[in-house]
Amino acid sequence: MHFRTADTLDVPALIDLYKAVALRSGGIARRAEEVTEEHVKSFVEKSIERGLIIVCEHPDNDKEIIAELHAYRNGLKVFDHVLTELTIAVHPDHQGKKIGRTIFTIFLEEVARNMPHIGRVELVTQEDNTRAIGLYQSLGFRIEGRMEMRIKVHGNYQADIPMGWQNPNFEF
Ligand SMILES: CC(C)(COP(=O)(O)OP(=O)(O)OC[C@H]1O[C@@H](n2cnc3c(N)ncnc32)[C@H](O)[C@@H]1OP(=O)(O)O)[C@@H](O)C(=O)NCCC(=O)NCCS
Repeated sequence: MHFRTADTLDVPALIDLYKAVALRSGGIARRAEEVTEEHVKSFVEKSIERGLIIVCEHPDNDKEIIAELHAYRNGLKVFDHVLTELTIAVHPDHQGKKIGRTIFTIFLEEVARNMPHIGRVELVTQEDNTRAIGLYQSLGFRIEGRMEMRIKVHGNYQADIPMGWQNPNFEF
């Protein structure tokens, strides 16, 4: 598997990845028709400018991206030490093969080693995504609350679970 940071040329492959995840596995807070070029371009650009974005190429085809993880600072000075708007997506054909764990480990190691200005990484996940919650806890994220009835999935309202990770090497 080849993991690397992304650039804007990856936008078309990322649209394909996010559409496949939205259509076939769910877990991201967006329907397939909401995975627009504008949306993907926007998070890629913000992550490159003021965050971190890691992708995993298909082992036999470097034009295809099978996993991606990004987060970025929201641009406000008071939140300058926070990576937020985090999303992780592994292609449905490649889930359950440790790619999610690997890409997240690479991401957090990069923050800990080379981003001492980042003190906190935060995310929100829906309550029934127990597989993702377990993965995040095993990586050092803590559950920080519960936002009741925040997300509507297949016609049912669910709680959203906010989680946070703190950088052990944060330089205040
Ligand atoms: C959630 C997601 C990121 C996990 O990535 P993955 O590559 O499929 O998962 P991994 O193989 O790295 O496994 C990570 C952990 O998830 C759990 N897991 C993986 N596959 C599982 C399965 N089929 N059933 C139950 N648990 C499973 C295991 O606890 C595993 O822990 P372990 O490494 O100690 O065995 C990925 O499945 C995904 O993108 N899902 C759709 C989008 C999504 O839900 N994004 C998260 C939004 S917050």
